[in-house]
Amino acid sequence: GAVAQNGPPDAPVTDIAHRGASAYAPENTLAAVDAAAQHDATTVEVDVQRSKDGELVLMHDTTLERTTDAEEVFPGEDSYEVDRFTLEELRELDAGSWFGPRFAGEPVPTLQEALDRLRAHDLNLLLEIKSPGRHPGIESDIAREFTRNPEWLAPTRPGGHQRLVIQSFEWDSVRSSHDRLPMVPHGLLGTVPEAELDEYAQWADMVNPNHESVDADYVDSVHDAGMGMFVYTVNDAADMRSALDKGVDGLISDYPDVAREVIAEE
Ligand code: G3P
Ligand code: CA
Repeated sequence: GAVAQNGPPDAPVTDIAHRGASAYAPENTLAAVDAAAQHDATTVEVDVQRSKDGELVLMHDTTLERTTDAEEVFPGEDSYEVDRFTLEELRELDAGSWFGPRFAGEPVPTLQEALDRLRAHDLNLLLEIKSPGRHPGIESDIAREFTRNPEWLAPTRPGGHQRLVIQSFEWDSVRSSHDRLPMVPHGLLGTVPEAELDEYAQWADMVNPNHESVDADYVDSVHDAGMGMFVYTVNDAADMRSALDKGVDGLISDYPDVAREVIAEE
């Protein structure tokens, strides 16, 4: 896999801001990307989905109610699924007020806007294809987006961090994305059974499980198969230390500042 093979042996552990620095700003917004930069993250994790008219946008939930004012702006809808709204409609939403008045009016960003903001801060990207089963063919749309932004297709950056990793809980989608962007490292979210690691390692570069579900032997097995491992979502410093002791390659955290301090202790 690209992570284990391309990174220097002493590559530093990657500090990944979950949904942006989502402890400090509304998740999956440009404000959360800015907060990741302010808190010295190396990399930002965000979730991508697709609007009714085929635009790629950042959103975690498959519905809009939790993180936007969709019910106020479009009252009486049967459902508020992301893919039932056009980009123009999504742009009417406030994706910040739920988190705090300081973020009122923060829009739902497009993936392109997120890429531009990440570049402005010199941040790397861990992109999760969220619920791809609801967005058939989204892997092609994502591949097209990065083909238009080829600076993201360069491999490992100075310091050993990945410029871009694409991941999903739906492994068929990861495979589909890998086939379209074979130069980009791809990660399988969740836990791949030990017996299947070698098979997946033929094309996948990472296994990215919940931090609670790994022990040191599993981390070793993933590394032995030639793949790297980021764990989610680690917010407690003691849990971060425990994950580092097990040998993980990255910490996905709402608190990238805490992760940075713990990584620096090593
Ligand atoms: O990066 C992995 C992590 O984000 C997966 O969980 O629910 O926050 O998307 P979730
Ligand atoms: Ca995610």
